[in-house]
Amino acid sequence: MNLSLKFLFDNIDVSFLVLDPYDRIIKFNQIAQKYFLLSKKDLRHKKIHELFSNLDIENLKDFFLKNRLKIVKRTPGLRRNEKTGASISIVPLFDEKNAYSGSIVSCTDISDKLELINQGTKAREEFIKRTAQIAEERDKFYLVIENISDGVLLLDYDYNIILVNSSLEKIIGIDTKKLMGTHLKIYFKEIYYSELIRKKYYFQSEIIEITNQKEKSRKAVSVYMAPLITQRGESMNTVLTLRDITREKQIDDMKTQFVSNVSHELRTPLASIKGFTVTLLARKELSEQQKNKFLTIINNESDRLTRLVEDLLSLSRIESSSFRFQISEFSLVSMLEELKQEMEKLLMKKKLRLDIIIPAGIPPLIADRDMIFQLLLNLINNAIKLTKESTVILFSTIFRKKDKSFIFTIKDQGPGISRENIEKIFDKFFRVEDSVHIIPGTGLGLSIVKSIVEKHRGEINVRSRLGKGATFIVRIPQGRISEEEET
Ligand SMILES: Nc1ncnc2c1ncn2[C@@H]1O[C@H](COP(=O)(O)OP(=O)(O)O)[C@@H](O)[C@H]1O
Ligand SMILES: [Mg+2]
Repeated sequence: MNLSLKFLFDNIDVSFLVLDPYDRIIKFNQIAQKYFLLSKKDLRHKKIHELFSNLDIENLKDFFLKNRLKIVKRTPGLRRNEKTGASISIVPLFDEKNAYSGSIVSCTDISDKLELINQGTKAREEFIKRTAQIAEERDKFYLVIENISDGVLLLDYDYNIILVNSSLEKIIGIDTKKLMGTHLKIYFKEIYYSELIRKKYYFQSEIIEITNQKEKSRKAVSVYMAPLITQRGESMNTVLTLRDITREKQIDDMKTQFVSNVSHELRTPLASIKGFTVTLLARKELSEQQKNKFLTIINNESDRLTRLVEDLLSLSRIESSSFRFQISEFSLVSMLEELKQEMEKLLMKKKLRLDIIIPAGIPPLIADRDMIFQLLLNLINNAIKLTKESTVILFSTIFRKKDKSFIFTIKDQGPGISRENIEKIFDKFFRVEDSVHIIPGTGLGLSIVKSIVEKHRGEINVRSRLGKGATFIVRIPQGRISEEEET
């Protein structure tokens, strides 16, 4: 080897090893000693496999005889230190007779690169982990969005729908798949043209009425708008949350209606009391007979006021959320005797007969006694009030084993109820027009009855035809309440 070549050979940052045909080291350069941390003596005649930890070719001669033109390129580990690595290429040597005479191994240290590779692997693993995390978070996000009861609408900058949840379908009555990608004004025009959107009232809500396409009904929806800056911050999306408040609004309207009805009902008798009192005071010349007539009106009107206030109090007590049952066990027979006594005067006045049929051995009721009393009183009272003279009112009861319920039936031979009115008689303040002026009442009696039945988890039904009398059938489950109260 010429000198300058030897110089280069020793000073280049590549380890060279010359192997004999049996893979043993016969020549090497200086850098190889440093690299493998072996003395000249130790390096010579060592087999190549003793230097590298995972060189996959066991016998180079065999390999090169099969693959004459191949150069082996490998990146094995080094036995001296597992954290190091080498990039090697092995070139076969053939003599003039084409016989295999050994090989040259050139070997570069790639330990620092190995670290980079490892870091790369780590970064890649980190990336995969993070992606999985993001996917999981996204899934969780969708799961939450999917499962909240409010409808959710995600809009892009131009108000195109880019995400919806299934709760929205209940509100708008359109398949959510159909909504995706459409412009807000197509299916939600009431929202699109609302103040909320037009004036971009972010972080605020507005009550908007929309049409449910499936039910063909109007729904009151509280729409909340919030901005959503996309991750890169370059454009802004909008999130709308839709809460169906139709029911709440109905209840609210009903309350308002009720208050206005009550005021109206109270004002009528008050106005009449006031009017006749003023007349009595101002017109001293009135005859005794006229005075009596006016006083009677005042008396009747104050009775009506008292009834109204009493009924209103009963109703609000029963319907209040803090209502508590006073549960006791009591016999029906004694309760009906009490009831009959209370009605005696009225019955006599109209020459009516109240027949009561209670089978012997009927079990006692476990319920709120005052309430059941009021329930039967109101029903029997209606029957007495509305029926012609000299007829029979029939009260009967049975205990039905099948569903452990008491069935009360109150049957009269009165005017009956038209089909049209039958649905309305349980409404607050509803009274059938013809009887309004003749028969005293508040229109609250049956509302109270209905509330009591509902509180006892029972049912009430009416069978009646105009002119054919009426039958009210009430079912009250036995002891149902007491069980619930205890738990
Ligand atoms: N047994 C009945 N037969 C015919 N109509 C009835 C009967 N019970 C109730 N109604 C009708 O239902 C209306 C509402 O009854 P209710 O709520 O008890 O109010 P009120 O008795 O104060 O009028 C009555 O005005 C009457 O027209
Ligand atoms: Mg009544």
